[in-house]
Amino acid sequence: METARHEEAPRVLVVDDEKVIRGILSDFLTTEGLIVRTAENGEAALAELQRRSYNLVISDLKMPRMGGLELLEAINQLQLPVLTIIISGFGTVETAIEAMKRGAYDYVLKPFKVEDIVHIVKRALERQRLERENMRLREAVSVYQISEAISQSLSVEPILRLLVDTAVEELGADAVTLLLEDDENSGQYSERMRRCRDGHEDALSQPKVGELLRCYEGAMPVLAHGAKLQQFFATEIDAESVVAFCSIPLVVRHRIVGMLNACSYTRGCKFNEGQRKMLAVLASRAAFSIENARLYQHLLDSKQRLEVANLSLEENFRQTIVGFANALEESDRYTRGHSERVSHFARLIGEGLGLSERDLDRVVLSAKVHDIGKIGIPSEKLNKAGRLTPDEIAIFRTHPEKGRRILDPIPFLRDLVPAVYCHHECYDGSGYPQGLRGPDIPLIGRIISVADTYDAMTTDRAYRRALPHAAAMAEIRRCAGTQLDPEIVAVFERELGRLGFDRADPGQLVLPAMALVGGI
Ligand SMILES: [Fe+2]
Repeated sequence: METARHEEAPRVLVVDDEKVIRGILSDFLTTEGLIVRTAENGEAALAELQRRSYNLVISDLKMPRMGGLELLEAINQLQLPVLTIIISGFGTVETAIEAMKRGAYDYVLKPFKVEDIVHIVKRALERQRLERENMRLREAVSVYQISEAISQSLSVEPILRLLVDTAVEELGADAVTLLLEDDENSGQYSERMRRCRDGHEDALSQPKVGELLRCYEGAMPVLAHGAKLQQFFATEIDAESVVAFCSIPLVVRHRIVGMLNACSYTRGCKFNEGQRKMLAVLASRAAFSIENARLYQHLLDSKQRLEVANLSLEENFRQTIVGFANALEESDRYTRGHSERVSHFARLIGEGLGLSERDLDRVVLSAKVHDIGKIGIPSEKLNKAGRLTPDEIAIFRTHPEKGRRILDPIPFLRDLVPAVYCHHECYDGSGYPQGLRGPDIPLIGRIISVADTYDAMTTDRAYRRALPHAAAMAEIRRCAGTQLDPEIVAVFERELGRLGFDRADPGQLVLPAMALVGGI
């Protein structure tokens, strides 16, 4: 992981116990535009390298306290991003090979020409520049890919996960938490996601949200090390255990909708300005995506609530229409319960035809309201005991059309219209109101026609007594092909037979059988 970015001139550390050599190299390299510092041995060099970031170390091999190879070893162990050139006064191939094995970039033998050193340094810095450029390019591509993934998500959780993972991986953070503003409680923030590296699960420190909000002035992230840490944590223990802290506000239209907090508990692992900027870019993209995802979720929730309300409204409407149909029948003792019975018989036929549950529901509801159009016919005409006059017949025959006009304007009742409008059509085309023939009559109309006819015959009417089942079925069979669809008649007879209608006592035919049908 790169821990430093070099915006200024490259920095070189010259390490040699001979003051003269330090001076010569320092002078020459400074004139080349480099920033040069010196150290008299490996130990002093190591301390300086941990204090500041360098691009290159030029080190003598033999020095008191700590030699060049040991310094190289320590640099490797600390994974400092610095190239090393070894200068050896005891030049043997073996020493050079050893230095290269331990990760040295190159070596120079004493006595050396200063121009040679300058040449090697320039070559090393150029290589380092290219490597860092490559790394930055890889990082940019990776950040771009993460950013794209964030912007394409419509759920909050994956966005939070990507942001937290990126903070852990790209910053090398030991613990990352993400807080979001509460939906109902504006200005209050709750932790929504966290990730800790192994061994740091218990070390997670919660920063002071109020302090962070105060420090986010201008939506600027917070980056703190050392003594500055104390102000962000509630307890001194936290501030002492945290080595570095970075907090990025998630801002949407000047409102802070969340905060991303990253802590390092590892000595020497600090967050730098470049990492903070990268995370701020991602956080900015994430903030908008989170807001979009939240709005989208609200939209879905509202849609769902609306659908539930709509369903309830539709159900209420259906029940109201069924209530009207029942009220209509209640006014006449002969037709009381007629539509309910027709709906049972119609369902029986529908099941015999293998209709889907959804179609069966439509069959049942259609049957319950099939005579709703009678609502517009004076009750004295409907319940007349004697024979109807031609004018009265004409009025009676308007009820399918009246029913259609009642239901048609209501979108979710419109699918009941075929049954209501066509249940008096005859298979041979002699019915009304349209005189449709055979399969031109909607199936649901042909089903209800059979069920309606059977119930009308097997119940008392003002103008005649109820027929027994066998007699009614004989009449139904006789009408198959003229008034009624023969296939549906066959299905009806088969289904009634399956339920035991054909074996029942003629005097008990309707009621016991209804109990059976009602239980389906
Ligand atoms: Fe009717």
